[in-house]
Amino acid sequence: MSKRLLSNLFKKYKSDKYNHKYSEVYEKYLNVHKNKKVKVLEIGVADGSSVKAWSRFFNNGKVIGIDIKDVNKKKLKIKTNNIDLIQGSQSDYVFLKKLINKYKSFDFIIDDGSHYPKDVIKSFKFLFPYLKNGGIYFIEDTQTSYNHFFGGNPFDLKYANTHLNFFKNLSDCLNYKEIPNPFYIKNPFDGLITNVSFYRNIVVVTKNINEIESNLVKNNSYENKRYITKTKRNKNKLKYFIKYLVFFKIYTFLYYIYSLIKRIILLRF
Ligand SMILES: C[S@@+](CC[C@H](N)C(=O)[O-])C[C@H]1O[C@@H](n2cnc3c(N)ncnc32)[C@H](O)[C@@H]1O
Repeated sequence: MSKRLLSNLFKKYKSDKYNHKYSEVYEKYLNVHKNKKVKVLEIGVADGSSVKAWSRFFNNGKVIGIDIKDVNKKKLKIKTNNIDLIQGSQSDYVFLKKLINKYKSFDFIIDDGSHYPKDVIKSFKFLFPYLKNGGIYFIEDTQTSYNHFFGGNPFDLKYANTHLNFFKNLSDCLNYKEIPNPFYIKNPFDGLITNVSFYRNIVVVTKNINEIESNLVKNNSYENKRYITKTKRNKNKLKYFIKYLVFFKIYTFLYYIYSLIKRIILLRF
């Protein structure tokens, strides 16, 4: 198989994934899955150019395309059996629930729909649980995060409620076991993500079990871990108790209060 098959297919069917150079990112992740019997969901069908390319690439798989507009195979001149097109919005949970009732789960999900931050985040939150382990979620055209005409924000890059910030923050879910905050509130994606990659205008999130224990922290406490490792090797338990379970814990608590006050003053929640 040519390593550039997917690019060639996007070019052949005139999908803008070729011009945006997303095809190179897709090839990197998907070439190894070419002949597998996978289920692929693409949000945003438009003229059908990319679903046609996916259906040729995953010729043993199934491609499901959804679009807010009426999309039907006859109109788009699609004769292939391994494509299903369904009308519905990516932010409509009633519609998405029906979609899941029918297809159960997906191997790959591609969000090339409205590109509005709110919609992208809403679909991701709903659909990610139905991505299989080892599955990959692609989000295209993330540059809308920077554009206020798309609901993004070019003036507050770090803290605006955009999808790029949502995915940047998701990288903390990779490292959630390393956070020595005894008041840490678990994120629903903690333990389920093994990779978040950012390319120009496209984000890639890989799902898999991620429950490797930290070498520095136990149950969100650095002090607990240190106390356990130190007292295992040493008999002077009182010394380590005072050091780690009294002084260090007081320091952590004061640092927590300081950070909380700072967040309240800066309105960062
Ligand atoms: C960029 S086009 C998709 C192009 C297609 N994926 C391709 O590569 O050939 C975006 C599509 O998303 C659809 N869309 C817009 N808002 C949507 C929503 N809320 N839910 C689902 N689809 C939506 C539009 O109707 C449009 O057809």
